[in-house]
Amino acid sequence: MTTGGLRVGGELTVPGDKSISHRSLICSALADGTSQVRSILQSADVHSTAGVLRALGVEIPELGEAITITGVGLKGLRSPSSDLDCGNSGTSTRLLAGVVAGSQLTGRFIGDSSLSGRPMRRIARPLSAMGATVELPEHGGLPMTVRGAPLKDIEWDNDTGSAQVKSCIMLAALCAGVEAKVSEPSRSRDHTERMLASQGAEVWVNDESVLLHPVQKLTPLDLTVPGDPSSAAFFAALAALAPRGELLLRRVCVNETRIGFMAALKEMGAAIELQNRERLSGEWIADVHVAAGATLRGISIDRAAIPTLIDELPLVACLAAYADGETRVTGAEELRVKESDRIAVVVGNLRSLGADADELPDGYVVRGTSPRLRGTVVTHGDHRMAMAFGILATLPGNEIAIDDRDCVAVSYPNFWTDLARVTAA
Ligand code: S3P
Repeated sequence: MTTGGLRVGGELTVPGDKSISHRSLICSALADGTSQVRSILQSADVHSTAGVLRALGVEIPELGEAITITGVGLKGLRSPSSDLDCGNSGTSTRLLAGVVAGSQLTGRFIGDSSLSGRPMRRIARPLSAMGATVELPEHGGLPMTVRGAPLKDIEWDNDTGSAQVKSCIMLAALCAGVEAKVSEPSRSRDHTERMLASQGAEVWVNDESVLLHPVQKLTPLDLTVPGDPSSAAFFAALAALAPRGELLLRRVCVNETRIGFMAALKEMGAAIELQNRERLSGEWIADVHVAAGATLRGISIDRAAIPTLIDELPLVACLAAYADGETRVTGAEELRVKESDRIAVVVGNLRSLGADADELPDGYVVRGTSPRLRGTVVTHGDHRMAMAFGILATLPGNEIAIDDRDCVAVSYPNFWTDLARVTAA
């Protein structure tokens, strides 16, 4: 192992959950009355959602530890006078496209080069089936013009398993005052359902589908955003790789649709434990304790579990290089259409640094050899790639440079500072 000598220690409160932060802005904007939101994630992606809502006529204050948002109600948005710039954020684009469609507005969505290449037909199809018009370039990405109309009820089979698609449809139906039923192959993150239910919407959820009934208005939110499990994952992985020390990650969202990585880490042999479980603003939170010194082993992860750890799969590949035996991930072709092609990029980087990894069409195989990794990671501007390899870069014996450290600003602006803090001797 090259991990000898690394010691971790301390407590960390990771920033607010990205998915819940986006939704807290959108659902506050659509409420009747004034919402209070605390601990929202102040990152580039969430700024994108705030910017688009401002362009739609909502007064969103500068993001801070505690913000107050006066909603305009379900019928109060206005057509934008400029393009809707979603930056790097797929969640902003897809959720707000639903809002624009259901509000009978017209908006042209744009973004950076990564976002512009990501698939939007997955939302264009259901929105068109509801009665909206969605204009896309040949390649199916951005720029995308959404023209709202009076929409009709929808029953949709969400075969991609994407929570963004599910939420897009629900928000379109909510704004249009129609019914939506969305079936999914396995349950994806359910923050939209939880938040809307807390605001008085009628939402019925079972293992196969979500049903949203029309509602006249939403009540405002009084919400504290819990810590992001996808951000906490990097530090849990760090502690699992370190030979000495322990980490306590405080007040992390442990919603069952989001804890696939913690389950995987446990199965790999890490000493990870959830403490002080409690409810916070309609979500479950807990402190996550990880003791160092584990011997990790390879595992298999297949399709049914993928939505519960979709964003953590690059990190799993990095960990797997230091686990005994083989780690195999399948049923994860969605990784190819994230901020980067995360199968090609994680495997390509692992191989170029000296690890033993192969792409599969729908996942990857990594054989754990505990390598000494050397070279420069090409992130393609993908925040999670920078952070996953940033963890491996802390291991003594590795010499890893990262081409774009600043891209962590998308989801975790203080990542490098927090990493330095918990690894300081
Ligand atoms: C998100 C859903 C996931 C995830 C993304 C955030 C959300 O995307 O990868 O980072 O907030 O709904 P998909 O729903 O497209 O899988």
